[in-house]
Order: sequence, then structure tokens, then C-alpha cells
Amino acid sequence: MPHALRDDVYRRPLATALERLGLGAGWRCVDVGAGGGDVSVALAELVGRDGRVYAVDSDPLARDEVAAAAASFTQVLAITQAAEDLVLPEPVDLAFCRFLLLHVVDPAPVLARMRAAVHPGGWVVAQEPITSAGRIAGRPFSMPDARHPDVGALLPALTRSAGLQLVDAWAEAPAGAGPGPLADYLESLTGVSPGNDPVVLPPLVTVVAQVPERP
Ligand SMILES: C[S@@+](CC[C@H](N)C(=O)[O-])C[C@H]1O[C@@H](n2cnc3c(N)ncnc32)[C@H](O)[C@@H]1O
Repeated sequence: MPHALRDDVYRRPLATALERLGLGAGWRCVDVGAGGGDVSVALAELVGRDGRVYAVDSDPLARDEVAAAAASFTQVLAITQAAEDLVLPEPVDLAFCRFLLLHVVDPAPVLARMRAAVHPGGWVVAQEPITSAGRIAGRPFSMPDARHPDVGALLPALTRSAGLQLVDAWAEAPAGAGPGPLADYLESLTGVSPGNDPVVLPPLVTVVAQVPERP
């Protein structure tokens, strides 16, 4: 999976979400389904040495990838664990996931575990795609390997069903035509360059939600 490339093309939605949240120094976070650790590193830069980022992924190989990507960030701790079994050494201020829920068997229990990992008043933020809303040359994207390729469209409702207070939600998609990071990203994913065809990548729906102060 081309983590660095995806981080490049989806960097803006990530930045929008973290800015909306007001993530800052000293926060304790978990990045669930951390993969190569792009989000974990972005979180680590913002929380600083006094903060903590748990990078959790069910794939043991991800731990090595995160260790390499976050080598200079002692505040990042990589853990091999399924999101469905998420347990951390301490309650965190933020549970974050991106491009995770489309792959899990059932997104609901994962959101419930993320909620349980956060202290009352803390935050759950998820960024998931509506794959079929992406376009190449006007034609919809498809992602046959994903269990829930359009889970982004359900994300606000899933968040509320998990007992979280929905504070904000929106969709954001990179778009372009011709040579550049989008064309490179698509070629790396599909093996085929879009050439000069217009491209709108699958929009990422972001939800910013709060854990209620009282159950
Ligand atoms: C598409 S990658 C996203 C990586 C990263 N969140 C990002 O946006 O760059 C999905 C990651 O989720 C992990 N994953 C899939 N199912 C999981 C589960 N049930 N529990 C934990 N991690 C899971 C995969 O191993 C993979 O590293």
C-alpha cells in the first residue's frame, strides 16, 4: 500500500480535521489501523514529546513500518492489536482512524472500542471514504477488496449509534487532471495512469465526535 503517496494526496483532509479538533501539545492519542504510520507521525508532530500516540494495527508488519516512520518520535508506541480488541494502557484524549472502517468486518464494534478508549469529554475522529463517489473520466471508482467501500456515507449515523455526540461532519476530496500526485497515486493503486483524464478521488467523510461527559 503506498502510504506516503496517499498521505500526500489526502494530506489536506487530515490537516482540516486536526485543525478543527484543535489537537495540541501533550494530547494522548490512538491511531487505529495505523498502517505505515502517516497519521501517527502527523499526530506525533502536533502532540510533541509530552504527548503520546499509540499506533495500533492488526498486521504485525505495520509495527515495523511505524517504528521506521516514527523513528525520531519517542512519543509514538506501535502496538499489534485488532481494533475490535482495542485496549490501551491509559485512557486517551483522541481515538482516530482513517481508511480503517471500510476494511473491518463490522464498523460498529470498532467505533464502540474507540469510544471506550477515550476518557469522558474526549474525542473520536474518523475519516472514511465514499469510494463510489470518486470519478475517473466521469466514471465511478470501485474498490472490490473493501468490505464497506462506501462506509463514509454512513459514518455520521454510525457515530451517533455508538453513543457519541456528533460535533461536526463533512466530506472532502482531492481533484485534478494530468500529471501530478493524483495521477501517480492512481497509477500506484491500479497500475494504470489516468493520463489527462479528470480525476476526483473518493471523498473522505470526516466525523468529529465527543464522548459524553456522563454515560
Ligand atoms: C488502508 S490502511 C490505512 C492506514 C492508515 N490509517 C492511513 O490512513 O494511512 C488500513 C490499515 O488497517 C489495518 N486493519 C485492517 N483491519 C484491521 C482491524 N480489524 N484492526 C486493526 N487494524 C486493521 C490494516 O492492517 C491496514 O494497515
